[in-house]
Amino acid sequence: MSPTHGTSAAHRVKSSMVQNALTLLIAGHETTSGMSSFLFIMLLKKPRALKAAQNEVDKVIGTGPITIDHLNKPPYIAACMRETLQLWPTALESASSQ
Ligand code: HEM
Repeated sequence: MSPTHGTSAAHRVKSSMVQNALTLLIAGHETTSGMSSFLFIMLLKKPRALKAAQNEVDKVIGTGPITIDHLNKPPYIAACMRETLQLWPTALESASSQ
């Protein structure tokens, strides 16, 4: 084992963490912001759907803070997100996963 082993192992871990953070940031940023933008455009064009989404937020979350436990509970909003991704996919499946 070389005297610099500890340093280079620490460097590799740090480098890997930076690369993973960048992957998550790039993979998660444009996709999430794109879907949210299209979702709000679609909801603003459909007042009935917007009202239903607002009612669901009032019913499931109310006026308190949003917590992790709320995330799977609004089925109408989840369906709106799925419909948005179907109509306006913000990321396409690559050939590698086919
Ligand atoms: C609406 C939001 C999102 C959409 C539409 C989306 C879409 C996708 C799609 C279609 C793929 C597969 C790409 C392929 O076939 O190669 C993918 C992979 C991936 N996504 Fe997302 N994504 C979203 C949010 C996020 C977020 C928030 C993160 C992380 C914070 C993330 C991290 C990743 C990673 C790391 C991969 C690669 C997985 C692998 O190859 O094993 N995504 N995403």
